[in-house]
Amino acid sequence: MTYTLKPLTPVLAAEVTGIDLTEPAGPALRKALYDAWIEHAVLVIRDQRLTAPQFADAARLFGDILVQQLKQFVLPDYPEVGTISSRDLPIRDGRLHVRGEEFHTDHSNYPAPPKATMLYAINLPDRGGDTQFVDVRAAYDDLDEATRRAIAGLHSRHVYESSRSTRKMAELTPEQRAAIPQALQPLVIRHPENGRPALYLNTGRMEGIAGMPDDAAHALIARLFAHATQPRYEYRHQWKPGDLVIWDNRSVMHQANADYDPTQLRYLYRIMLQGAPLQAYEEVPA
Ligand code: SIN
Repeated sequence: MTYTLKPLTPVLAAEVTGIDLTEPAGPALRKALYDAWIEHAVLVIRDQRLTAPQFADAARLFGDILVQQLKQFVLPDYPEVGTISSRDLPIRDGRLHVRGEEFHTDHSNYPAPPKATMLYAINLPDRGGDTQFVDVRAAYDDLDEATRRAIAGLHSRHVYESSRSTRKMAELTPEQRAAIPQALQPLVIRHPENGRPALYLNTGRMEGIAGMPDDAAHALIARLFAHATQPRYEYRHQWKPGDLVIWDNRSVMHQANADYDPTQLRYLYRIMLQGAPLQAYEEVPA
């Protein structure tokens, strides 16, 4: 297959055109897609026509599929494929309440958070419903040396819903709640494949910083979050039907938008890929 890879911003995200993921991908194409995803952190593969099992097969090009946690949002016939549907969302004050409407990284409370999340667009509203991404590698690279030194070696406990969260997480059944993990995660992680450092932030789940008074910890988290979410680190994806987007949860944060007409259907398939425990980035300026 001859395909085209085009960077979408100078910092992150690239677009792939000219491939058909219903066809078997040989080792060369598979490696090229994987490497492009690691480098650009967000890969937008255009013009696909996938059934749910074909979407799952496309996911397996990049890794092993994570068992879906929220069983209420899966396809009954293909439980490895989750769904994001505007029909599942409550309307509050005339506006949809969207899961993920704040920059975050998925399942950071897991000891081994998913390395990737993938969405495949089926139905889209006429306008709005974009997904935004910010590059937390570039955000770390731009920190001044004093801040890099100050945050080196710090860890934060990530829980299902932080006591300071402004983001309301999905309701859990008592069984789900009992099984939900928490994890101590480095504030700066090292990418396991390309070695790049990145900030690891998820304000909805971070319960302070180990060894630091709560107010100081949350002030530091808020400062790093404000830095990392500046427009210069952002790629904003405006969905087209047939887009498959895969992003690297170790390199970007993402957020959904509830700015579309709530009577219109926004429906996407969603899969996450298994990750490994996160490594701390050890190199700091002397
Ligand atoms: C997500 O956070 O996984 C969903 C993003 C979106 O619906 O735009």
